Amino acid sequence: MILLAAGSGKRMKSRWPKVLHRLAGKPLLSYPLRTALNLNPKRVAVVVGAGADSVKSAFADEKVTWVSQEKQLGTGHAVLCAKEAFRGFSGDLLILSGDVPLVSEKTLLELLREQGEKKPQLSLVTAFLEDPSGYGRILRNERGGIARIVEEREATEEEKRIREINAGIYAASPRFLFAALARLDNRNTQGEYYLTDVVGLALEAGGKVGSVRVEDAREILGINTREELAMMEKILQQRINRKWMEAGVTLRDPETTYIEEDVAIGKDTIIGPNTHLRSRTVIGERCVVEWNAYITAAEIGNEVQLKFSVVLTDCRVGRGAIVGPFAHLRPGTVLEKDVHIGNFVEVKNSSLGEGTKANHLSYIGDATVGRETNIGAGTITCNYDGFDKYRTRIGDRVQVGSDSTLVAPVSVGDDAYIATATTVRHDVPPGALVYNERLERVKEGWTEEFRGRKGKKEKT
Ligand code: UD1
Ligand code: CA
Repeated sequence: MILLAAGSGKRMKSRWPKVLHRLAGKPLLSYPLRTALNLNPKRVAVVVGAGADSVKSAFADEKVTWVSQEKQLGTGHAVLCAKEAFRGFSGDLLILSGDVPLVSEKTLLELLREQGEKKPQLSLVTAFLEDPSGYGRILRNERGGIARIVEEREATEEEKRIREINAGIYAASPRFLFAALARLDNRNTQGEYYLTDVVGLALEAGGKVGSVRVEDAREILGINTREELAMMEKILQQRINRKWMEAGVTLRDPETTYIEEDVAIGKDTIIGPNTHLRSRTVIGERCVVEWNAYITAAEIGNEVQLKFSVVLTDCRVGRGAIVGPFAHLRPGTVLEKDVHIGNFVEVKNSSLGEGTKANHLSYIGDATVGRETNIGAGTITCNYDGFDKYRTRIGDRVQVGSDSTLVAPVSVGDDAYIATATTVRHDVPPGALVYNERLERVKEGWTEEFRGRKGKKEKT
């Protein structure tokens, strides 16, 4: 199996290689590569050229042979570069384009069957498109066999009206293929060696060219432009959303629900509009994600409620917890069962024990908080001195009064009370009350005196 991924993707107008552009959160190339590997091929060669190093490192874990095409002289030349990698290989060789992401295993198996049974020199996948522009057109002879493939740029007006296109997916006998590729010329508008010209060489030698036509043309759409990338993103999004709805998840507005491939969602969970579920996020059963949620690499238990507008990244949320509205859980956050995190609360690299609440306006960073503790409005953990970060420890059943600051490193024992507006700098033993000595004074008649001094009423 050969995957072609060396092209720079000129039409993308990008500094990154085309096959690394993302589709539902994963690089474009990962789609055909996954499908290819699922077929358990004996050898997989990926031809890389433009941005080869970044492509290789993005797929460093995959068991493939990297083949280098120094100069992008065309798809035919790209396949020829893989010749050495298939020395001594007998059997049929499958060729996929790295920019055709949705081709199915079923189609590839059908193509291999066509090649295996009828033994043509070459067989390829075709499809009918409403708008075939940009693709190579399939010219058939009077018996309905494939006669030639003509690229859009070389096509006459009449040929451009043909709606049957070449999907860029082929099966061939390696012996025929590599011999034919060595004979290709580059006399065309692009000055490139076109893989598609192999069709002519097969027929010239009295051979046959087989074909398999896909029913759902979406599966063979190629990505050459940003617009096509966006259209493909839509198609993938619809597929993924449909899969979750079929699995028993309610999507209140699938149009604005963006779920990446490797996300998992439990049954009877309800997902509201404008929700983004990214990067291996797992959501349990019977959860409610109300509206506007941006969730990345989070692990969310059953019966969790995420209220309006929350951002969760790389964190864990236990069963029955309530988060939001307007809350931010940053990496390293662990909320145990039934924790409540409310309005304008930010939590980072902290764990909060079962039933603990921080409902309003707080920053909890680098803290370990026990269970059944209440963090009052406006509580801040001061974890950073400009050089290092320090931890705050708060025990079980602690009452942290509103507007308190805890200057880390500091530890507060179980059942302690922190009075309102206390700055806690020293460890507090279990069961203690901590407060700052501060005199509260009242000056009667002060307002009249003040305004008199200013000589006018305050602006309101
Ligand atoms: C190609 C086909 C066209 C078909 C279409 C289907 C040719 C000449 N044309 O056109 O008939 O309808 O795919 O999507 O083959 N690549 C290399 N090295 C190169 C050039 C390209 O590895 O020198 C790779 C690209 O990275 C890409 C694939 O080959 O993954 C296809 O190349 P691209 O330039 O996109 O071909 P199309 O113009 O789409
Ligand atoms: Ca293409």
